[in-house]
Amino acid sequence: MPMVNLKPLLAEAKAQGYAVAAFNPVDYASMKAMIVAAEECNAPVIIQTSAKTINYYGHDVLAGWMRQLTQNSPIPAVLHLDHGKDFEMIKRCVESGWTSVMIDASDQPFDENLEATRKVVEIATAANVGVEAEIGQIHGVEEDIVVAEEDSQLTDPAEAEIFCRELDLAAFAAAIGTAHGYYHGEPNVAFDLIGEINKRTNTPMALHGGTGLEDEVIQRCIKLGCAKINISTNLKHIFVDSFAEYHRNNPNDYEPLRVLTAQFDALKALFKEKITQFGGANHGSEALSKVA
Ligand code: 13P
Repeated sequence: MPMVNLKPLLAEAKAQGYAVAAFNPVDYASMKAMIVAAEECNAPVIIQTSAKTINYYGHDVLAGWMRQLTQNSPIPAVLHLDHGKDFEMIKRCVESGWTSVMIDASDQPFDENLEATRKVVEIATAANVGVEAEIGQIHGVEEDIVVAEEDSQLTDPAEAEIFCRELDLAAFAAAIGTAHGYYHGEPNVAFDLIGEINKRTNTPMALHGGTGLEDEVIQRCIKLGCAKINISTNLKHIFVDSFAEYHRNNPNDYEPLRVLTAQFDALKALFKEKITQFGGANHGSEALSKVA
């Protein structure tokens, strides 16, 4: 199945009351583990590349891997750009086969964010590509983007309402108290704010900072309208730890493919666990029949 646009997929997930898991691949095998995990769970999945990963591999390599992995796949998969800051990079994603892009102009004043996002919605919509955009500032470190606690700002629901009325978005990323990276202490998730933003915008919400959230928090967020949940830090740790652990347990094994298999299996297990926790399991073929 070719890749699908994020917009109808999230509308479907929200209507059915689950969230689609969104993972940030770091190489071909981690991307493959995401697709295989989704296939084994019969679930939709979002593969989201950061700007840093695109700068490392190039647009064509990443899009080529995705095409090869999804062409005969029975589940719907999205190739998404996470936190796009640069219009030229976003445009190149749209031209190279991404089926969704995030424009993150959340560090700009509201009107400038709105206009920058409008420009992206124009080129993306014309190419059947979904758009995620953000207002407010999500705390933490996401690749090269660092937002200090004192600079982070919860989303203003009145601004969110205008933003989502003006723009036809696939997903709205709001700052609601979650953070990128591991949490130090209890996250202070603003559930009332999530509920209010969802009521006012009626746009599927993307939950950033999914690593380390308790199950109860995740389930409440999904009930309140979060239809996309991002996981990156968790997989980075498993990527490195599973490799190191295999070597610790098998210090004389220098067959790289066995090490890579152990790493692949550990990543796949994480992806299956998250997909299932977010409620996406067993929704893959049904979602595909509605969005294809
Ligand atoms: P984590 O750092 O919590 O995994 O969040 C990732 C994310 O939101 C990417 O945009």
